[in-house]
Amino acid sequence: ISVGEGVEPGTEGALTRPGGVRGETERTLTSEELAEIGLRFEVDGEIATITLDRPDKRNAQTFATWSALARIGRTLPEQVRVVVVRGEGPSFSAGIDLRTFTPEGVPGQGSFASAAALDDGTFEKRITEAQQGFLWLRRPDIVSIAVVQGHAIGAGFQLALSCDLRILADDARFCMKEPALGLVPDLTGTKPLVDLVGVARAVEICLTARTIEAGEALRLGLAEQVVPREELPEATRTLATALLSTNRDAATATKRLLHGAVGRTLEEQCAAERAEQAVRIRALFGGTGS
Ligand code: ACO
Repeated sequence: ISVGEGVEPGTEGALTRPGGVRGETERTLTSEELAEIGLRFEVDGEIATITLDRPDKRNAQTFATWSALARIGRTLPEQVRVVVVRGEGPSFSAGIDLRTFTPEGVPGQGSFASAAALDDGTFEKRITEAQQGFLWLRRPDIVSIAVVQGHAIGAGFQLALSCDLRILADDARFCMKEPALGLVPDLTGTKPLVDLVGVARAVEICLTARTIEAGEALRLGLAEQVVPREELPEATRTLATALLSTNRDAATATKRLLHGAVGRTLEEQCAAERAEQAVRIRALFGGTGS
């Protein structure tokens, strides 16, 4: 990943509910600031939409993109339950901005060459910060949907993998290109990939850096749905609406259970179900359990 200074908070803009790890109040980025980074963020009731908006560069991502995504996550309005992540133009995202590989790098954001010169601690911090842009999309209180048309390469594929669900247009193509470029995928994509397709298939996909077309992605479990490209917005709306039809607290608890299931034994999972259900039933029907 590239390094950079991230997005410096300014002084104006809406103040949000406390976010961040230390619980401080953090300012949301203005639409002008987001536009400069190549992003749009819109909230319509309980649905938020993040749009990668640099179509002329196939929505290539920079450190500023990841830093801004992390901030959107930390300052997400309380009412949002579904987060749609989409790309403007022909491709979802062509991955990391290739200028990162040049000595000059992305203006103001450094390059791999400048990253190589960082001490271990600073380097670790930079990658951690970039990963924060992806990690929050798995939060139990929201459901994230990647809406993918055209190419999703490298960081683009990892962004799609960081979402709970993926709706693909029939021209969608995934490619984990990092190993072909001498890198590893480090933007949180390896675990969901393995969880979805298994270790052997993940090895094959990553170490060949081959392209996976929409039909195969569906068969492998990398997509929940493939639709003709022109039907992508309608299919997304339909899925978002269906996701909003369940009780919010029950949905959050259920997502927490499902995510936790991967790392638990059956016995532990049964115990987790009992604990979550006790909270639900007391919330719905009263009682304190004492
Ligand atoms: N970074 C910066 N600019 C990019 C990137 C990128 N990753 N991808 C495309 N662009 C730019 C092109 O340079 C071109 O700019 P120009 O019009 O100023 O010349 C413009 O976007 C359009 O690109 P085309 O290649 O003409 O678009 P096309 O639709 O034919 O192809 C494709 C799209 C397949 C995505 C191709 O652009 C491509 O292979 N891009 C590089 C993909 C890549 O290797 N990404 C890094 C993966 S590793 C990682 O993400 C960590």
